[in-house]
Amino acid sequence: MEHHLSHLASSFFVSSYQDAVLVSVDGFGDFASAAWGIGEGTKINIDGKVYFPHSLGMFYQAMTQYLGFPNYGDEYKVMGLAPYGEPRYLKELRQLVKCQTDGSFKLDLTYFRHATEKVEYEWLNCSPKVGILYTPALEDLLGKARQANEPLTQAHKDLARSTQAIYEEALFHLLTTLHTRYQRDKLCLAGGCAMNSVANGKIYQNTPFKKMYAQAAPGDAGGAIGAAYVAWHQQQPANQSPTSVFTMNHAYWGPEFTDNDFKKLLDTKQVELSTADCHIQYLTDEQQLCEKTATAIAEGKVIGWFQGRMEWGPRALGNRSILGDPRRHDMKDILNHKIKRRESFRPFAPAILRESVLDWFETDDDVPFMMKVFSIRPQKRAEIPAVTHVDGSGRLQTVEQQTNPLYYQLIQQFQQQTGVPIVLNTSFNENEPVVCRPEEALDCFLRTKMDVLVLGHYLITRQA
Ligand SMILES: [Fe+2]
Repeated sequence: MEHHLSHLASSFFVSSYQDAVLVSVDGFGDFASAAWGIGEGTKINIDGKVYFPHSLGMFYQAMTQYLGFPNYGDEYKVMGLAPYGEPRYLKELRQLVKCQTDGSFKLDLTYFRHATEKVEYEWLNCSPKVGILYTPALEDLLGKARQANEPLTQAHKDLARSTQAIYEEALFHLLTTLHTRYQRDKLCLAGGCAMNSVANGKIYQNTPFKKMYAQAAPGDAGGAIGAAYVAWHQQQPANQSPTSVFTMNHAYWGPEFTDNDFKKLLDTKQVELSTADCHIQYLTDEQQLCEKTATAIAEGKVIGWFQGRMEWGPRALGNRSILGDPRRHDMKDILNHKIKRRESFRPFAPAILRESVLDWFETDDDVPFMMKVFSIRPQKRAEIPAVTHVDGSGRLQTVEQQTNPLYYQLIQQFQQQTGVPIVLNTSFNENEPVVCRPEEALDCFLRTKMDVLVLGHYLITRQA
């Protein structure tokens, strides 16, 4: 299946929308970096594309490298840094990305190497390593690039903010043009750039679209489901609609493990657990399990929460999560000290009961996959400092009883104890991929200073 058709299908066919404008934006795939069109029923008509070498993903990646974040996929760090700066470099960066009257965009290739030179793309210790994408002309325009070990100055923060603003400008220009052209209010977004949850959260304010959907894995991993859907629809007899329509409203499609698996693991790790002075309780009553876990969260403890099927896609959404108290000013420092050791500017995210969204956020949208960032209501920000970013925003996950009853019950318990229907949620890992299997979770727990590990119905507490 063609790359961008797979992207578009991966969003539209699981969105529950019967018709929508479809947009895919990424680095490159099959020589294109963006595609758009209309989805209707089981059909997708691609109406336009942006071809190599022009690419918004490439622009963002080049600026990420320039700002001293060299790893593949570091763009989210620039997105997190942006609110600390002012958009002082729009004039300069508009020279790199030129919006076109047809809604599309072009790069000024003076500033990019990928169209004219060999850019290295190699594997280094199991990670992709991409060579420098920008030319010396970018340093002539903006000054010397930051090296990874250099301190972040205000100018770097301003450049991060400007990079994000230019990406948003080009995206909203495209979306607004497409809305005028197609006259439909629903939008399905996909492609690696659909991971830009900050831009996604501003779509309602900056374009006429009324509803937007992006699924849990909008990047190339998600192309798998899109390709499968296209093949399935192609094989349906003509004029026959599929018998059931699937809506992806949760991401819990990965491996799962039973209490029996946990018991076997704990039996084999008895020595390590007793050396670490751990107390183990087996609580079959989920109410009690949630009560005790919520109390631990409210006491400022750091909880590893391992339940059910692992999340599909890059985000931990309450089944492989580390949880904390959003009310504590020092929670970010505690988490960074005990486990994460990540850059101080990066925010932690709130998971909130679906029914409480409107009370706490300036939206009432569904955000099951943390794909949209919204403003926290100004009067609520001081109550949840650990999940309020410097600009007052939060990358929320809306939690529904129907799709994750145990996680919902836990947050409900936390609300009963504290009045706040929100927990801090971050991925269950420490400088490694998110844990999948219970042995990885236990290993991470024992290796770090995490206070509590909940493995299914087992509550494992490190004694103070
Ligand atoms: Fe892609």
